[in-house]
Amino acid sequence: MQTPHPVTATINGREETFEVIGLESLMDALRNRLHLSGTKEGCREGECGACTVLLDGKPINACIFIARAAEGREIETIEGLQDDLSSRIKQAIVETSGVQCGYCTPGIVVMLSGLLRRVEAPNEALIREALSGNICRCTGYAQIVDAVLDVVEQKAAAS
Ligand code: FES
Ligand code: FES
Repeated sequence: MQTPHPVTATINGREETFEVIGLESLMDALRNRLHLSGTKEGCREGECGACTVLLDGKPINACIFIARAAEGREIETIEGLQDDLSSRIKQAIVETSGVQCGYCTPGIVVMLSGLLRRVEAPNEALIREALSGNICRCTGYAQIVDAVLDVVEQKAAAS
């Protein structure tokens, strides 16, 4: 039996210490040990983006990131994204009907929050490129892209 290993990281702005075993993924640690189930489990192979979280501000697939490597790092999950920009992204996706079954939505919101923090006004090509690792089987992406363009427009109008 493997010995549990403590990991201390900042999760959604709070320092948390949790135990992991062996090569346990960050996705499993977030969902099963920290009860942050907004990080969705899809393919478990780094292909679908359902498990996207921000690691030190950059989107990663938490299913292929070893939880022990999160020691001392900053993780943001969908539960922690309550800032104005993230709230606008969520609202815009709802308004454009970019949510259907909703399974992909947390990962997509996390990905887009990371994008809009890094890039002031991404164009459609950049938005589509950022979403290329997030699979949505329902929407065809057009509504989600429209939602981001709406947020970009709102930001421009406010500045
Ligand atoms: S569950 Fe992580 S990329 Fe699919
Ligand atoms: S809304 Fe169903 S997978 Fe995206």
